[in-house]
Amino acid sequence: MIQRTLVVLKPDTIQRKVAGEIISRFERLGYTIIAAKMMNASEELLFKHYEWIGALLTRKWQKVFDLTSSMMRGWPVFAMVLEWIEAIDVVRKVVWPTEPKSAAPGTIRWDYATMSYGYADANALWVVNLVHASATVEEAEQEIPLWFNESEFVK
Ligand code: TYD
Repeated sequence: MIQRTLVVLKPDTIQRKVAGEIISRFERLGYTIIAAKMMNASEELLFKHYEWIGALLTRKWQKVFDLTSSMMRGWPVFAMVLEWIEAIDVVRKVVWPTEPKSAAPGTIRWDYATMSYGYADANALWVVNLVHASATVEEAEQEIPLWFNESEFVK
């Protein structure tokens, strides 16, 4: 199936100046960028993204939600929509899981980060993991229109 998925390069990716390297991994797989922008994510957008869609607040405690939201607002992010065969599952596989310590070698979160839930929780840090990618078809269908207007897609 040809699918579309939302990818957001988080502030840590932009600060470390590895956005190009990460984008090239998706391009190497054959994905096409059909919408993209540098932006400052608003508190409202992040609440909808992480709670309405992701239920992060429901799954974790308030402190984790607040940290995640404020870190995502502390620096610009690069949001894009990728399209091609099985985009949601394949891109997620290259990115996942949430905790870099548990990620498989070769995934982005393994290759660029080391954070564990244990260290993050003990030190009031968020789990630095570079990239967001839609997890399911339902999530992609909700996230893409949240981050992009129809007019922002290339024809
Ligand atoms: P989540 O939606 O669970 O993971 P994913 O990004 O893999 O879909 O969490 C959203 C982000 O919130 C996650 O990428 C990093 C941050 N986070 C923490 O900082 N600590 C945590 O314990 C969790 C679950 C998430």
